[in-house]
Amino acid sequence: MPSSQIDSLHSAALERYRARNPGSLAALERARKVLPGGNTRSSLWNGPFPLCIEGGEGCRIRDVDGHVYVDMLGEFTAGLFGHSSPLLAKALADAHARGINLSSHTPYEVELAERLCARFPSLELVRFTNSGTEANLMALTAARLVTGRPRIVVFEGGYHGGVLTFGHGVSPVNVPFDFACLPYNDHDAAEAEFAANGAQIAAVLIEPMQGAGGCRPADPAFLQSLRDLSREAGAFLIFDEVQTARMSVGGAQARLGITPDMTTVGKFFGGGLAFGAFGGTREIMERFDPARPDALPHAGTFNNNSLTMAAGVCALDNYLGAEALEALFARGEALQQDITRVVKETGLPFVVTGMGSIMNIHPRTGLGAEADRKILQLLHLTLQERGYYIAARGLMALSLAVGDDEISGFLDALAGGLDGLVPDTTFGTPIAKAPVR
Ligand SMILES: Cc1ncc(COP(=O)(O)O)c(C=O)c1O
Repeated sequence: MPSSQIDSLHSAALERYRARNPGSLAALERARKVLPGGNTRSSLWNGPFPLCIEGGEGCRIRDVDGHVYVDMLGEFTAGLFGHSSPLLAKALADAHARGINLSSHTPYEVELAERLCARFPSLELVRFTNSGTEANLMALTAARLVTGRPRIVVFEGGYHGGVLTFGHGVSPVNVPFDFACLPYNDHDAAEAEFAANGAQIAAVLIEPMQGAGGCRPADPAFLQSLRDLSREAGAFLIFDEVQTARMSVGGAQARLGITPDMTTVGKFFGGGLAFGAFGGTREIMERFDPARPDALPHAGTFNNNSLTMAAGVCALDNYLGAEALEALFARGEALQQDITRVVKETGLPFVVTGMGSIMNIHPRTGLGAEADRKILQLLHLTLQERGYYIAARGLMALSLAVGDDEISGFLDALAGGLDGLVPDTTFGTPIAKAPVR
């Protein structure tokens, strides 16, 4: 495919996008008056302007212009339960009916903590936060204080939250810790860092698969070498399983058979509500026992909020059992294979990487970064016109609500290629219009 053809398809797709989404543009213009760029979550920005989604049901979402999409993004991996789980709705209503903002310990938090500790080999004790970012900040702070060392090993392409971002160098809004940012999956670089600075290293923080970094799985041998290097140096190995916890009932760590000293989780374990948790060995986490004279403080008004706790328990009991997660993993692996087959058969310039139900489609035009950027946007917009919603950066995360029909429909949409578009705004069963707030 020559560059000029990409350019003309790309311009035409942008034109159609603008024409078919006036409501989303109007929503952004209104938001710009009170939110910088109309945005309060940077990752949701995509040019020429993002869609404004007003509601969803099951595995479908609907934008303010009335287009219905199969949601293949699943809230950037946080949305595992579809958009209208009656079980979660009941758990939330029940918790609300019992009273919220209770100003003390409640029966809810222990229920969730027991379930999480039972699942993860590395969690003897756990504490709750309100986001994955906060969970990672607390895990790193604990590692630095418990070891009495300043240095944190992280990896290029890593994402551990808004202030712990290592995608394109070290982000200017990152917390000012002493980071050593090493290439991912590079055993020699890790070994050299430990040889040079081992006595200064408090922790190694790593995603078993880099999510925001493009769904790049870690080499299990690399993770094992980090396990060995950190243990020898007296540093803590921390797995950020905020995304990968869905890879099995015990997360990626159980699947890989590698047990870190600490683990952070978030996203879906709050049943769709704001959530995070960090935990680890009893020895490390007991430092947070507030009755100790040397207790490390960890505050947070909503750490034990009863709605999130109740939703998390409901999610774990009803949706996140071993069988369901194994099936989801297998379904995701099969989808990745099918995408690979379709791009081969059609000659589309893409590759897919990922682990289980979380994957990323990457452009491979061979024509340079600008052509790659345009063809990825073309794919994003083309799939949207055919009724399938993925992230602008190519990320896809299957929720439990996405069924076989939706997956085969997605593969057909992909197999349709990037030209000869047949816009279909009525895909799927239209869902009831949600009230506009
Ligand atoms: C691996 C990983 N860690 C941490 C975070 C941060 O979680 P949150 O957005 O809840 O702060 C994310 C969010 O995408 C993530 O993917």
